[in-house]
Amino acid sequence: MWRSALNWLRSLNPLASLTGRIFIWFWLTLVVISMVSFLVLQQWARPYELTDLNAEEQQLLEYQREELENYLEAGMTPLQAIRYSGIRFGLDIYLVDPTFRLLGTPQPDQIELYMIGAMVESGEPLAANWENIRWLGAEPLRHRGETYRVLIKTTVDSGTGRLMDVINERLTWTFLALLVSGMLSLLLANSLSRPLRLLRETSRSLARGQLESRVPGVVSKRADDIGQLGQDFDHMAERIQSLIEAQQKLLSNISHELRSPLTRLQIALGIARQRMEQDTAVPQLDRIEREAQRLEAMIAQLLQLSRLENRLQHMDLQPLDLGKMLRTIADDANFEALAQDRSVRLQTVVPVRVIGDQMLLSSAIENVVRNAVKYTAEGSEVVIDTALNGDQVEISVQDAGTGVPPQDLPYLFEPFFRASNTHQGGSGLGLSITRQAVEAHKGTVKAENIPEGGLRITVLLPVSLQLPSSSGD
Ligand SMILES: Nc1ncnc2c1ncn2[C@@H]1O[C@H](COP(=O)(O)OP(=O)(O)OP(=O)(O)O)[C@@H](O)[C@H]1O
Ligand SMILES: [Mg+2]
Repeated sequence: MWRSALNWLRSLNPLASLTGRIFIWFWLTLVVISMVSFLVLQQWARPYELTDLNAEEQQLLEYQREELENYLEAGMTPLQAIRYSGIRFGLDIYLVDPTFRLLGTPQPDQIELYMIGAMVESGEPLAANWENIRWLGAEPLRHRGETYRVLIKTTVDSGTGRLMDVINERLTWTFLALLVSGMLSLLLANSLSRPLRLLRETSRSLARGQLESRVPGVVSKRADDIGQLGQDFDHMAERIQSLIEAQQKLLSNISHELRSPLTRLQIALGIARQRMEQDTAVPQLDRIEREAQRLEAMIAQLLQLSRLENRLQHMDLQPLDLGKMLRTIADDANFEALAQDRSVRLQTVVPVRVIGDQMLLSSAIENVVRNAVKYTAEGSEVVIDTALNGDQVEISVQDAGTGVPPQDLPYLFEPFFRASNTHQGGSGLGLSITRQAVEAHKGTVKAENIPEGGLRITVLLPVSLQLPSSSGD
């Protein structure tokens, strides 16, 4: 009851979903921007304000009114009176006549006219401020039974300072708006891209074979869609890890467990052979022995494969002279091949050194050469060749057999895989060991059918040192 209510409340949290998050952030940013632009606009359209006169201004107004009254009495026209007094006292004096015409120069701005209107309407003397301009008035003046109104335009002392203040204020607000909205956008962008980047890093490290890689807590603990994706990813990674580990463990256990009964079988076989006086059962015993040896070899291969896959294979790394190694392999293979009316030839040898484990690397290439001898046509030749390819050396083994059906090519390096056109008994482990061993040396291996018929296996290995060519053939 409690729990479901809590869950319901949680589902209302807009930050718990990506949509909600994006919506809220954008919306907030928009609100902040529009609020600030409203404020800035208000600054532009700052209205005038009416205040009371101070004593000094009150006095000034009254004094001017009396002066003007005197001039008018003396027979000046209103315009003459304000001009004369203006020049005399250094003031901008204006008069509103009984018909509400404004007398005086220069002609004030539109906003000033509004201010004057408001001052006249209020009926009592006031001050009206706009920016650095301050109007005083309107002081009633009676002349020949009619009412005029006296106004004086002054400027506030720190006028330019005030103007700069206003401008500065506007700039500050605009800058603030940019800063705040920029920061909000940056936060949003980061809150989306950072977890995705972390997810990508995790998936890459998983793909590299680091099965224990998991999404960092900052991602998987998020309440939104990305967090859920992170949790799902972790579940997937966990499942994959346990499956693969179980499989590898099984393989390695099977190999170990098979080995001991097989050894006992072989010992018993030897004893039986010694005790057997009559020859009748000997062919069967020979057969049992052959099968036992085959099993033994296969289990040894399996064990090696499992060690390589689990990266448990000990590697005795040292600089190896590739030419020397290939020559030994070619000679041995040629010797075996001659007995089957086939031959093995080592073509060009590039003089390079590679860093590797002698036994492991030799057996990897031997597996390929042995296959080639097995599948090449009778009377034909297997060619081993090398070439430099950037900072890698390319070792190719090519035979004159029937090749592999194209649809089988991608699976050739899988354990226990045998191509559909194969009739020769083999366990299908040789090439998978080759691939694992080559990859343990940071190399790659690929297979392709050649147009003349036959298969070419190419092993690419990083070169550690290029020897002077005289040390080659
Ligand atoms: N040179 C080749 N020509 C044609 N097919 C080949 C060649 N080399 C390998 N293959 C095919 O690839 C399959 C896998 O080879 P791999 O060396 O892994 O196993 P295998 O030779 O059958 O057995 P193992 O080497 O374990 O005794 C072979 O069964 C065969 O079908
Ligand atoms: Mg083989």
